[in-house]
Amino acid sequence: MTRVFSGIQPSGDLHLGNYLGAIQNWVELTDRYECIYSIVDLHAITVPYSPAALEQRVFDMAVGLLAAGLDPERCTLFVQSAVPEHAQLEWLLNTVTPLGELSRMTQFKDKSERAEMVSAGLLNYPILQAADILLYHAELVPVGDDQLQHLEFTREIARKWNARFGDYFPEPQPMIGGGKRIRGLDGVSKMSKSRDNTIPMLGEPEDTWAAVRTAVTDPARVRKNDPGNPHVCNVFAMHEFFTDPEEREEIEVRCQTATIGCVECKRMLAEGISDRLAPIRERARDLRANPDRVNAILADGAARARQIARVTLGEVYDRMGLDYSAHD
Ligand code: TRP
Repeated sequence: MTRVFSGIQPSGDLHLGNYLGAIQNWVELTDRYECIYSIVDLHAITVPYSPAALEQRVFDMAVGLLAAGLDPERCTLFVQSAVPEHAQLEWLLNTVTPLGELSRMTQFKDKSERAEMVSAGLLNYPILQAADILLYHAELVPVGDDQLQHLEFTREIARKWNARFGDYFPEPQPMIGGGKRIRGLDGVSKMSKSRDNTIPMLGEPEDTWAAVRTAVTDPARVRKNDPGNPHVCNVFAMHEFFTDPEEREEIEVRCQTATIGCVECKRMLAEGISDRLAPIRERARDLRANPDRVNAILADGAARARQIARVTLGEVYDRMGLDYSAHD
């Protein structure tokens, strides 16, 4: 079976952008591929963070992923730092990576412009990502298009390493477009935590309403009696994911004829979201009440991932003229 690898940062609260854009797709891929998914805490520490909060963020991410339907029987889920081979392979790949390449990465440029102190870790972030993927000889990597440059970089590092030490790493391909795109509450930009425009994935109905209530609608519709244009309205766009087609058609017509106001339309959306995500919220509650179970799933995932990672690292040591025998 073709192997898939992907990583997600333990970014704290999951939102509908994560759910529709990535997590739902991750769940679906487990039907067709051998999937290995990692919560990439070593990537998360390349920017300033609170050590006390990190552990909780990792745990919350695991809860979110499992609650959203990732089945640990059908994929491998683990925390990156629990498999030391990621950092070890990263070091080895460092040695074939041209510095210029790294400093030209757009994500690095963005992040380093905003940072007070630019760490070598932030610069080397893409090498760690390459190590994540290459450790498992993954062929497919589901990512958003903001990660295409990192994937191209990974292929290049694989080629460079292969040219130097022999054909060993396959060049992984990105899998784009499996997720659904969702704009944030501002109606303009992608839903993301850094833009503070999110609807929480695990929110109680009142949290969902508190977020949806603030969503920007058709800017041309100022008063309730003005007819609106659903096709420029982000709230209507979100109805597509949470409201059945008949009701959606009705909303469309009623918006165009000004017989439904934005507040009522938002209420329907908030309700649709809360209903759809109720089972996920419930599973999350269960998992939170059983942290031992979550930790056991992650430990089992790490053990399985490690079995593969050790073999790769041993072969890489060998080809690079290093002695791996002390590791067994
Ligand atoms: N950089 C990715 C992101 O921010 C996360 C990531 C780390 C990743 N390692 C990965 C994604 C390996 C795919 C494969 O989204």
